[in-house]
Amino acid sequence: MKYDFESFIDRDPAVRGTGKYRIMKDSKGNKPPKGIVPLSVADMEFKTAPCVIEAIKAEADFGVLGYHRLTDSFRESCCNWMKTRHDWDIKPDWIVPFEQVVPALYCSVWTFTEPGDGILIQTPDYHHFTGATVNTGHKVLENRLVADEKGHYTIDWADFEAKAREAKLFFLCSPQNPTGRVWTEEELRKMGEICNKYGVMVVADEIHHDLIQPGYKHIVYASLGQEFADNCVMCTSLSKTFNLAGLCYASIIIPNDSVRAKFQKQMGLQAFMHIERFGPVAHEAAYRHGAEWLDELIQVIKGNYEYVRDFFAKNFPKVVVTELEGTYLVWCDFRSFGLSDAEMKVFLTDECMLYLDNGTEFGEAGSGYQRINVACPRKTLADALDRFLEAAKKRGLAQ
Ligand SMILES: Cc1ncc(COP(=O)(O)O)c(C=O)c1O
Repeated sequence: MKYDFESFIDRDPAVRGTGKYRIMKDSKGNKPPKGIVPLSVADMEFKTAPCVIEAIKAEADFGVLGYHRLTDSFRESCCNWMKTRHDWDIKPDWIVPFEQVVPALYCSVWTFTEPGDGILIQTPDYHHFTGATVNTGHKVLENRLVADEKGHYTIDWADFEAKAREAKLFFLCSPQNPTGRVWTEEELRKMGEICNKYGVMVVADEIHHDLIQPGYKHIVYASLGQEFADNCVMCTSLSKTFNLAGLCYASIIIPNDSVRAKFQKQMGLQAFMHIERFGPVAHEAAYRHGAEWLDELIQVIKGNYEYVRDFFAKNFPKVVVTELEGTYLVWCDFRSFGLSDAEMKVFLTDECMLYLDNGTEFGEAGSGYQRINVACPRKTLADALDRFLEAAKKRGLAQ
């Protein structure tokens, strides 16, 4: 490996304000001892790529930090990335700069729907899809994904179509968080055809689109053809890929001129005005020089996923670990333990000192599951699983 994915980084929350550490508490509200790393929240335990750090330093050295607008050079770098990594031709002016993906989900809801309208969501879901629906007075139309005995998720098509008939907007999560599915072209096409048939606007959250495991291919929804591109808003960012979430930048890519104009008008009404300066600078550096770092990262994620999978296969064969197709978030079914969600939380946080994302954070469909973030040094992961094994033995949970 040319890059460092092994060093432990002390992200002391008292000093750094690191979000995922600050919310880490056991069931009694106690903080864990120093050194415990949360394997929760989509935020990696790696430094970003060196090319990104250099670009940020250079911008800081320039020293004038006034209002920022996207440069032509940024737009060109984003177009090149989409072409080379995703075989998707985009025009520079399709890119709408935005502060983050989640506010863009809300903005899409305000742009394309009226309060009370139905929004189609596939569950278990990244909780902000439900949030952006419920908090704005809309109705959740749930299309529950179906898992087989190996934890592979597919779509209940009859239900999808029934819900699409009532919906005004569909939140497509591609790749899917938390199940790690990378949708096939056939699945995407079928979802898109149904949405187009019923006039449902597709808001494709593709924030994890660069984190694809070998053997899988991410297809950008809008690249499926003109009729799909004309009826969608594509939300993306390198914030997951290069661990830049604290820089708050996202590119909302909207191919159709009138859809884009409508979205931008709503942005004005919601007072979404300026973007932060370092986010685009970091993105451009990553787009131009980060591919090699990313390719190594994907290998590290693959190795860590396999470590988790093999650990459970050896020690707890009834725990179902869903195959990781994309993202760095491993979805595990612990229902064989026979613990309630509340008991599981006590077991994990108080007995294992393990901070994962409870499946219920992704809705009822996630009950009995946990999501494990494996984007961390191998030793961090191994220590966490060792604590799990010890605590499970003490509880008599061996299978
Ligand atoms: C599917 C998905 N969308 C959006 C986000 C958050 O994006 P942002 O920080 O740009 O709002 C996440 C973060 O985990 C995510 O998993």
